[in-house]
Amino acid sequence: MKRASWTVALVSIAAITAAVALAGGSENKGKFNFKKTCKPCHTKAAKGSEVTPLTKTQEQWQRYFKNGTHNKGTEKLINVLTPEQLIDVQTFLVNHAADSPQPETCGG
Ligand code: HEC
Repeated sequence: MKRASWTVALVSIAAITAAVALAGGSENKGKFNFKKTCKPCHTKAAKGSEVTPLTKTQEQWQRYFKNGTHNKGTEKLINVLTPEQLIDVQTFLVNHAADSPQPETCGG
């Protein structure tokens, strides 16, 4: 019995750690950097066309940043922002994606 509850405790810790790692960045900084760096190219009128957190689902945003290329694979995201800033922007976009608990059109 004692051993079973230890297992439960360890599994919960692992699950919490994974969840924190997934949303590891700062959402506020991410929102700031998204508006500052991504938005100028990503409004309806701009050359990149409109991009908001709602443009993709959480899974699609994860894949997008994991892939790390931009503009149809011709540019690396790392040329636009630092790795740390990218994690923040990813956190913001994933947390407010189309299928997230708090979808957000913001950034516009
Ligand atoms: C210098 C201008 C510029 C900046 C800065 C920029 N983009 Fe883009 N982005 C583009 C262009 C151009 C495209 C291609 C649009 C098209 O195919 O119609 C694009 C495409 C995209 C797409 C569609 C998929 C793809 O890769 O083709 C997404 C999503 C995207 N950008 C997200 C972002 C994010 C997130 C940032 C900030 C980290 C960002 N962009 C910064 C110009 C920019």
